[in-house]
Amino acid sequence: MGGAKNSVLKLMAAALLAEGTTVISNCPDILDVPLMADVLRGLGCEVVLDGDVATITTPAQPKYHADFEAVRQFRASVCVLGPLVARCRKAVVALPGGDAIGSRPLDMHQSGLRLLGARSEIEHGCVVAEADDLHGANIRLAFPSVGATENILMAAVLAKGETVIDNAAREPEIVDLCTMLNRMGAKIAGAGSTTLTIRGVERLEPTSHRVIGDRIVAATWGIAAAMTGGDVTVHGVNPKHLTLVLDKLRSAGSRITVAPNGFRVEQDGRPQAVNFATLPYPGFPTDLQPMAIGLAAVAEGTSMITENVFEARFRFVEEMIRLGADARTDGHHAVVRGVAELSSAPVWSSDIRAGAGLVLAGLVADGVTEVHDVFHIDRGYPRFVEDLSGLGGDIRRVND
Ligand code: UD1
Repeated sequence: MGGAKNSVLKLMAAALLAEGTTVISNCPDILDVPLMADVLRGLGCEVVLDGDVATITTPAQPKYHADFEAVRQFRASVCVLGPLVARCRKAVVALPGGDAIGSRPLDMHQSGLRLLGARSEIEHGCVVAEADDLHGANIRLAFPSVGATENILMAAVLAKGETVIDNAAREPEIVDLCTMLNRMGAKIAGAGSTTLTIRGVERLEPTSHRVIGDRIVAATWGIAAAMTGGDVTVHGVNPKHLTLVLDKLRSAGSRITVAPNGFRVEQDGRPQAVNFATLPYPGFPTDLQPMAIGLAAVAEGTSMITENVFEARFRFVEEMIRLGADARTDGHHAVVRGVAELSSAPVWSSDIRAGAGLVLAGLVADGVTEVHDVFHIDRGYPRFVEDLSGLGGDIRRVND
């Protein structure tokens, strides 16, 4: 299992916080990593990607303007905002634009930075943040946003005094970021809880860090096993990061064996219907909702899936219906009646996870399913086709 996409991009951005050379290992071989390298190069860093190691050398004075060309290609690039305000006292980051899974405003990022003493506006298609001085503050997030927690955290580590972020996101990737920042000399307490307390320091030093395993990719393979009546063993991920997901698979009838650094999912016959409700960690991850729909589509019985994080994440369900799923959505609920067999059809992936969910459905559909726009999948899954065929999936990539 490679490193987590949702961790590595933030760790790369964190390298902006210290002058010198930061080394990040276990980087996944996904498109977003070289894209993030380009964003950092645009800010004056030297970045070398060699195998699974990213070596990032940050200058004494990084540039503060992340331009549209670099940023528009992937939304996570907005995580340079916090580090740039901290290091340069100014950041101009092009707005990444729309997203297939719903609107993704930056209001919480901005209001957090304002409480730290920055001015922040949207100007000419960019989010601009500027501060004479950053100072500690008490910040209560209206929702435990992953991105807002990270940006505020990365600004607060170099602010004067103490910052408390309440209702902070608790995702394992945030804990990973806190671990790296603390190793760089930051003073962060409470990682993995809803309250982060950050004592600002004058400067941070570069460090070496190994990215945690990708729980979303790992769980995708686990769900694939449950959907196909298969047997999959995953190494290189902390199974505690997937406690709820593995519980759900148990309810679906899978036999789960947990090891210190991985897990095995074995399934005989059709899975049973299970209800899912996506929530911030430790709830069921919204990034696995498309795979949950896929599982429900072939399960025995009726499942209710509730999406609580992204408003438009059910859009791809139309594509599942094209594959024969008996699914109906109403607002943020989907009711899925499992069918004995899906039937192949051409379908289009609209984002990383929807694409992966459609491929899993294609694996159990009768006949040959063509999934288009699979470049989305490459943004988050290294060797997707190779890994799936290694697991016995009859899948081929067609470069059209
Ligand atoms: C990150 C993950 C993404 C995952 C998501 C939720 C990365 C690169 N991406 O995205 O894979 O699906 O967490 O686990 O790490 N919101 C606002 N205002 C804000 C910020 C967020 O309204 O200022 C809303 C969003 O529109 C969304 C919800 O909060 O409805 C959650 O978003 P957030 O946790 O910020 O997700 P991301 O960090 O964008």
